[in-house]
Amino acid sequence: MEEKYIKEVKALNAVKTPPLGGREASAISVFAPATVANVVCGFDVLGFAVNEPGDEVVMRLTNKPGITISKITGDNGRLPLDPAKNTVSVSVQHYLNSIGRNEIGLDIELHKKMPIGSGLGSSSASTVAGLFAIKTLLGDDADPARLLPFAMKGEEMACGYGHADNVAPALFGGFVLIRSYEPLDVIRLPHPENLHCAIVFPDVDVPTREARQIIRKNIQMKDAVTQWGNIAGLVSGLFMNDLNLIGRSMKDVLVEPVRSMLIPDFYKMRDMAMEAGAISFGISGSGPSVFAFTEDADTAHRITQKLQQHLTALSIGSNTYVSTINDNGPRVL
Ligand code: HSE
Repeated sequence: MEEKYIKEVKALNAVKTPPLGGREASAISVFAPATVANVVCGFDVLGFAVNEPGDEVVMRLTNKPGITISKITGDNGRLPLDPAKNTVSVSVQHYLNSIGRNEIGLDIELHKKMPIGSGLGSSSASTVAGLFAIKTLLGDDADPARLLPFAMKGEEMACGYGHADNVAPALFGGFVLIRSYEPLDVIRLPHPENLHCAIVFPDVDVPTREARQIIRKNIQMKDAVTQWGNIAGLVSGLFMNDLNLIGRSMKDVLVEPVRSMLIPDFYKMRDMAMEAGAISFGISGSGPSVFAFTEDADTAHRITQKLQQHLTALSIGSNTYVSTINDNGPRVL
């Protein structure tokens, strides 16, 4: 039994080689996926990637050294074209500095295909798409894990702290544990194949920077004990393919009680999702998106429909997504 898991994890952690296999190209288009960070009990240490939504970056090598951002679509004018202020160009610049290629000229187009400030790792998807694009353009076939610190720089700029629970799953795909930040130690976890995710984004703005500021700075030992029991339970459930253990471990006594106040009818939505057959329910990242795990796509669709109807009745618009866990991460389009 144990050997099987060790093999599975080794396979999951196997380094992916870039599609161009060491050759330079002059233009490329890359998609990187949205992510659900925290996974309820694992604040800043757990996250997984989904198949949709996600962002696209088109990147071209130019003759003029330096980075320009020529176009951003799908952002309603909210994101900066200034390359010194955009998370994509800033993280790509950090990467170029690290490999001593500052002479390179780059033009970037960013196509936002997902809502900003949604709790679905919007800035991470853009940043990871940009980093995967430059790495692939340059034919850099080093371990993609090397990109992670540059992606975290993008998060630091976006919300004040370089957390990795969105960028790591966006970059590696799958279910990811950040065991340690110093030194950085990221582990890919297995997951049941039939795990489906129902996501509902209620159209209210919750900037991550602010959602981080309202969290309690000190916690009680008894709450810490509850929380680490649940994190260990969730990780065990993933290894054991035990949906019931996964469900009963996805409880958060530290962050959800505070952040749920920013989400319209959070507890009502949780009751509705659980009644409709969810395994678990919680906030995606810093919210306002919420997500439920289910064991099939039909249940996931039923949940997104019910929650969307409920939000519509409250005059709140919403986007919904149903996905399995995306084990592939970024891809060249
Ligand atoms: N772990 C981060 C937070 C994720 O909860 O603030 C942000 O999406």
